[in-house]
Amino acid sequence: MKKVFIRTMGCQMNVYDSLRILDILNNLGYEETEAYEDSDLILVNTCHIREKASEKVFSELGRYSKLKEDKPDLIIVVTGCVVQAEGEDFLERAPFVDIALGPQNYHHLPEKLELIGRKLKKQVIEADFPVQTKFDFLPSPGSRTYSSYLAIQEGCDRFCSYCVVPYTRGAEYSRPAKDIIKEAEIMTTSGVKEITLLGQNVNAWHGIGTNGEPWRLEDLINRLADIPNLLRIRFITSYPSDMTSELLNCFTSQKKLMPYLHLPVQSGSDKILRAMNRRYTSSEYLDIIFKLRDLCPEIAISSDFIVGFPGEEDKDFEQTLDLVNKVDFASSFSFKYSPRPGTPGAAMKGQIPEEIKSSRLDVLQSLLQRQQERFNYNCIGKVLPVLLEHEGKKTGQLCGRSPYLQNVNLEADKKLLGEIIPVKITGANLNSLRGEQAI
Ligand code: 5AD
Ligand code: SF4
Repeated sequence: MKKVFIRTMGCQMNVYDSLRILDILNNLGYEETEAYEDSDLILVNTCHIREKASEKVFSELGRYSKLKEDKPDLIIVVTGCVVQAEGEDFLERAPFVDIALGPQNYHHLPEKLELIGRKLKKQVIEADFPVQTKFDFLPSPGSRTYSSYLAIQEGCDRFCSYCVVPYTRGAEYSRPAKDIIKEAEIMTTSGVKEITLLGQNVNAWHGIGTNGEPWRLEDLINRLADIPNLLRIRFITSYPSDMTSELLNCFTSQKKLMPYLHLPVQSGSDKILRAMNRRYTSSEYLDIIFKLRDLCPEIAISSDFIVGFPGEEDKDFEQTLDLVNKVDFASSFSFKYSPRPGTPGAAMKGQIPEEIKSSRLDVLQSLLQRQQERFNYNCIGKVLPVLLEHEGKKTGQLCGRSPYLQNVNLEADKKLLGEIIPVKITGANLNSLRGEQAI
């Protein structure tokens, strides 16, 4: 077997894509290795969402190029959003890369490897949006862990003024329901118990159902829930204006849908939301949250925030803090605004100095961390159903996930891996819970 080392940066969609690429490579006789020094092929799946993520790609590639000096047959492949954003310039910046493929082109990896292997080409790049989607060409998913991602929607038509996704991932595309159901069935046959439906704007998913009727996300979730061995369903990432009442109701009516919603708000200021081209106000966002809490009081809400967007004044930032206090988030991600070339935000007046971005981020993150800690501490004493996913670092330790997506560590028999068991929570910190098996 030849060996491939895969390095994945960025979002869950990239994690999913890397697994699909591994499915392709498995069919070509490659097995995965965790040591890049031992590999015949290094694949870096890149992220372009913020400047830091993008720069990390080039520093990391530098390390692999050194290895190639000693191992000239080593093949270096780069996929993902950085390739899409940089286009032909990418190979100039990274001349030691053999193959560069955009997010919609990675199904062509076998033929590109053939070109390089037979020395018919020195370097190849493909970064376009083909008419026929890659999903029609990908092999069946190979074996997965007990919890797996499944991409159901990709790309975005919303054009938030800070975001590269519409340019790197392309227009909004919903995969057909029947293909999604088939992929979910294959996954569950190989032991998957929990599926997280993925999309950059996942709640915009739409399609024709197995009954010939137009379906929205809640219909798809309900159909997937009919798969007997599929025990848990989640979806990520949702856009607030696409949170229909039918989808909100699904959190009470569909017991396999976990009580966790990641709903990025980005800012609590209506002025900034308008400048970001987000099509909701802070009070509309709060209405969704309160409605959802009425329907499903235990729901854990998580969010993304950007601080220091152009034009953000102290009073706008305070409105973000106000919103955070009103919602009380279970977890969240927050970032300094990073101007991305080609997006409207990068050309806006009123760019915010780095020091102000940093100090606002500190204030916001400490508030969000306090909320996350409190959410976790409040679980102490409760018995939560935990899906046991893998062994922990310590002997005898297993790690799993609560319904609210918290990491839970406990001592339990390895034979229980893949099961959902009741766990009495005995301790908590910012990032995880501790517990013991409750009988
Ligand atoms: N700068 C900072 N954060 C960004 N995000 C997206 N684009 C940018 C940017 N240019 C954040 C948003 C989004 C998350 C995936 O990344 O909060 O929800
Ligand atoms: Fe990064 Fe966005 Fe691309 Fe995901 S889709 S890898 S977050 S740029």
